[in-house]
Amino acid sequence: MSNPSLLILPGDGIGPEVMAEVRKIIGWYGANRGLNFDVSEDLVGGAAYDKHGTPLTDATMAKAQEVDAVLLGAVGGPKYDVLDFSVKPERGLLRLRKEMDLYANLRPAQCFDALADFSSLKKNVVAGLDIMIIRELTSGVYFGEPRGIFKEGNERVGINTQRYTESEIERVARSGFEMARKRGNKLCSMEKANVMESGVLWREVVQRIGDTEYPDVELSHMYADAGAMQLTRWPKQFDVIVTDNLFGDLLSDLAAMLTGSLGMLPSASLGAPMANGRPKALYEPVHGSAPDIAGQGKANPIACILSFAMALRYSFDQGDEATRLEKAVEAVLADGFRTADLLGEEGVSPVSTSEMGDAVLKALDASIA
Ligand code: NAD
Ligand code: IPM
Ligand code: MN
Repeated sequence: MSNPSLLILPGDGIGPEVMAEVRKIIGWYGANRGLNFDVSEDLVGGAAYDKHGTPLTDATMAKAQEVDAVLLGAVGGPKYDVLDFSVKPERGLLRLRKEMDLYANLRPAQCFDALADFSSLKKNVVAGLDIMIIRELTSGVYFGEPRGIFKEGNERVGINTQRYTESEIERVARSGFEMARKRGNKLCSMEKANVMESGVLWREVVQRIGDTEYPDVELSHMYADAGAMQLTRWPKQFDVIVTDNLFGDLLSDLAAMLTGSLGMLPSASLGAPMANGRPKALYEPVHGSAPDIAGQGKANPIACILSFAMALRYSFDQGDEATRLEKAVEAVLADGFRTADLLGEEGVSPVSTSEMGDAVLKALDASIA
């Protein structure tokens, strides 16, 4: 049988820096665990725009559709902010999500013990935190029509449309319930049914799927603004949260700070199963291209490394190896390795991106010694 295939899209800013560390880890799995991948690499975002005049070529899009999983670093940067909307780096990522139909974006937020002091919240609020946000990723206000900037009388109007069909809500709701069954059996759905019709439909559909297909899962509903407040007040009340594209974007950045740093949060974007039974999948850190620290060897590679762990678990049926990698990260943090985003303890000086990657490799070595 041929090796599973991986397409690596490092992207812009710190994307290539954190992805270099993931490449080392992929090499480690080949050398030490007999897990070999056919790895190819391509451009996305500003890097693709610079070379091809588009943030994602059709050829790269086609490759992404064929491989078993895509790993992406980050896209965007100030240099590209002036570009027309249609060729902005972010459009490359949105096209991948849309055309691969990656409707369920899993964003786990876990507070490692060694980092419980790093959150801006009190230690007892975040210690032991382990929640999963499932963000709908292919619809809602990100993609609804009409959209654009139009002339209306003497002035312009900017329009985006929040739009959800029942089937779009159904499928992501099922992702939420299935995830809850694998975890603490609790699902909280967030929308704004008090002011938005799309929220009314969202709540109704999630409730119906719960009643008819998942009566064993404890389901609750919350307005997303109250959800943001509850996530900072007492986040451990949650197990799995399912929410729409925009609220999920905001709430997952918020959740990142419960774990200490945005540089810690991985994600998996999953679609329907392919012919080989694996879901269409793209794995990427939640953070962006961090232009303020790009090129300085300061970026925390853990979000990207943990995204690869998610690939091992969700695309390659290697749950034990995913756990091995997560434990290696945990061990490195417990040993006091800190990139610059995780400073604050007395007497601790930061390690570089590659030193953090090397430390994880050493911990992996130790796990098989
Ligand atoms: P950002 O996530 O790039 O950075 C926010 C802050 O977090 C910055 O101070 C940055 O230095 C820090 N940070 C982020 N990741 C880090 C890491 N791994 N290690 C250490 N510190 C880290 O968000 P932004 O500044 O709002 O956006 C910058 C660009 O990235 C924009 O063009 C935006 O559109 C893009 N972006 C891309 C993605 C993606 O590719 N998935 C996600 C978010 C933002
Ligand atoms: C994210 C990012 C993206 C989003 C951008 C870069 C398109 O913020 O992945 O969270 O808004 O979805
Ligand atoms: Mn975001």
